[in-house]
Amino acid sequence: MSEIQNPGQKPEARTIELTVNGVSRRGKAEPRMLLADFLREELDLTGTHVGCEHGVCGACTIICDGTAVRSCLMFAVQAAGAELATVEGLADGGTLHPLQQLFSEHRALQCGFCTPGMLMIAIDLVANNESLTEDDIRIGMSAALCRCTGYDGIIKAVAAYAEQIHGKSAHGMGADV
Ligand code: FES
Ligand code: FES
Repeated sequence: MSEIQNPGQKPEARTIELTVNGVSRRGKAEPRMLLADFLREELDLTGTHVGCEHGVCGACTIICDGTAVRSCLMFAVQAAGAELATVEGLADGGTLHPLQQLFSEHRALQCGFCTPGMLMIAIDLVANNESLTEDDIRIGMSAALCRCTGYDGIIKAVAAYAEQIHGKSAHGMGADV
């Protein structure tokens, strides 16, 4: 006969092992613990921000096995054995990742709350699209909400990054990009 769980009883936490930014990590997660909370609370990787917790704002975006995902829409247990990339893995010591540098140059952030998610979305967008138009970038970056910048600097920074990676300008971008 299966055991009946007391409604007030917390489900048992299990150990999750996964790779984050190239490093093997492990931590405890109850079955319903969100991946975003696991990263922040168990692994102390607080660069991944949590805004809406409903898959809308994009602040919690990370890369899981090569694809950008909302970490508030995944349970930690679903990421067992996965390879994750978070914003903490972008800079190399004191040297900014090229996309971070471009965000700085193009003033693509103000308060910075949306920035970790923006960066991870942009990296996924550029990595998976060799020929991006300005519209493609605008549509792709609409996956994250920014309440400060008006998006102009963000679009310019991502277009400049796409040019660095793929060697051509986004069609439709102005000469000042
Ligand atoms: S916190 Fe995950 S999409 Fe808003
Ligand atoms: S920089 Fe403030 S929300 Fe985007």
